[in-house]
Amino acid sequence: MAAAKAPAEVAKGEYQRRRRALLQMAQDDAILILPAAPERIRSHDTHHPYRQDSDFAYLTGFPEPEAVLVLVPGRSHGETLLFCRERHPERELWDGPRAGPEGAVSAYGIDDAYPIDDIDEILPGLLEGRSRVYYHFGRDTDFDLKLIGWVNRVRAQARQGAQSPHEFLELGHLLHELRLFKSPAELKQMRFAATVAAEAQKAAMRATRSGGREFEVEAALWAVWRAHDCVPAYSPIVGAGPNGCVLHYVANNGALRDGDLLLCDAGAEFRGYASDITRTWPVNGRYSKEQRALYDLVLAAQAAALAQAVPGRPYGAVHDAAVAVLTEGLLSLGLLKGTLKKALESEAYKAFYMHKTGHWIGLDVHDVGDYKVAGESRLLEPGMVFTVEPGLYIAPDAKVPAKWRGIGIRIEDEVRITDDGGEVLTGAVPKDADAVEAWMAG
Ligand code: GLY
Ligand code: MN
Ligand code: MN
Repeated sequence: MAAAKAPAEVAKGEYQRRRRALLQMAQDDAILILPAAPERIRSHDTHHPYRQDSDFAYLTGFPEPEAVLVLVPGRSHGETLLFCRERHPERELWDGPRAGPEGAVSAYGIDDAYPIDDIDEILPGLLEGRSRVYYHFGRDTDFDLKLIGWVNRVRAQARQGAQSPHEFLELGHLLHELRLFKSPAELKQMRFAATVAAEAQKAAMRATRSGGREFEVEAALWAVWRAHDCVPAYSPIVGAGPNGCVLHYVANNGALRDGDLLLCDAGAEFRGYASDITRTWPVNGRYSKEQRALYDLVLAAQAAALAQAVPGRPYGAVHDAAVAVLTEGLLSLGLLKGTLKKALESEAYKAFYMHKTGHWIGLDVHDVGDYKVAGESRLLEPGMVFTVEPGLYIAPDAKVPAKWRGIGIRIEDEVRITDDGGEVLTGAVPKDADAVEAWMAG
């Protein structure tokens, strides 16, 4: 692939706008507290590659661990505070540069920044006089305990007239509604991630050969991702034959057998933004009759689901459309028995299609945002982005004629809701059975 050109980074002003929107939602008697993601041990004394918490990244763009963002609506000396690591020439020699509090202010548009080591001294004073605390309870137990300690410090001053917060609210309730609607700058990052993921899928198709192994195909994905400054958005699923029926298969070390399908669910992450694509292709480059019948059925289900991706439709209509087509097709192929009405009522399709048809996508691959409002499926609005990913999984021991067993198929694309329809972001990968075969033969 000729290197695709990366978009400009999200501008500093956009992070300020996001914080301002959140501050406005929270109102003046509140305080919002959000720690950076902790570093995580992989084994003994080595770490997983650091990834910033998505909420923290959304509000700051600040890439370091050991930091805490505090938003204080209406505070006259500045509403956005950051606690972060101080500069440390010796540590920076080992681990790379740190912004330090001065850099946090100059490079990230923070109003006031303090050393993280001073947080115990400063935070109780910020809590004092605020009645509501927005925070993600239960996400980081160590931090939960620190917060309780700071609140208790304020409570202990009650006889001296200190007012301690008395309402504790879920930060995600406000913040995740903002994150659900993607801005133009976010869409640029997401389009790039989708473009790279599409190229990687195409390369993976051509890296597939009978007698090979799943990890050889995975290697082709990584080569394209890393050549474009991307990392995997999740552990890729590269499952041949019956492995394609294991929904969370990640071993990716099986054999590629002539006559089997290969299910490849693999997305790139660019500057924190995920992409998520699945294609399913024949190891030998040609779908068998049964594989093709099921593949065409999943493709028809995806087309019906995508047709629901327009503003004003309930989110749940996407799944319902896929289920209706799959059920009808399974009946006509003889994999289900009875009438369409009865099969839909009894959810008989769940034997072969046991997951939902998609999810929001953004900074998290399974992105934040409510799917229902007041118990009802929420209506689609411009700026929402989600996946549409129907599948069929006929387990090796399914009680169906042998010719169907061990076939696992999923077809997954991302769609953005526009002002008057839906735009597929991941359409660059061949999808029709003929187009897949032609690409593999090329
Ligand atoms: N790969 C995760 C998903 O498709 O939801
Ligand atoms: Mn998905
Ligand atoms: Mn996926």
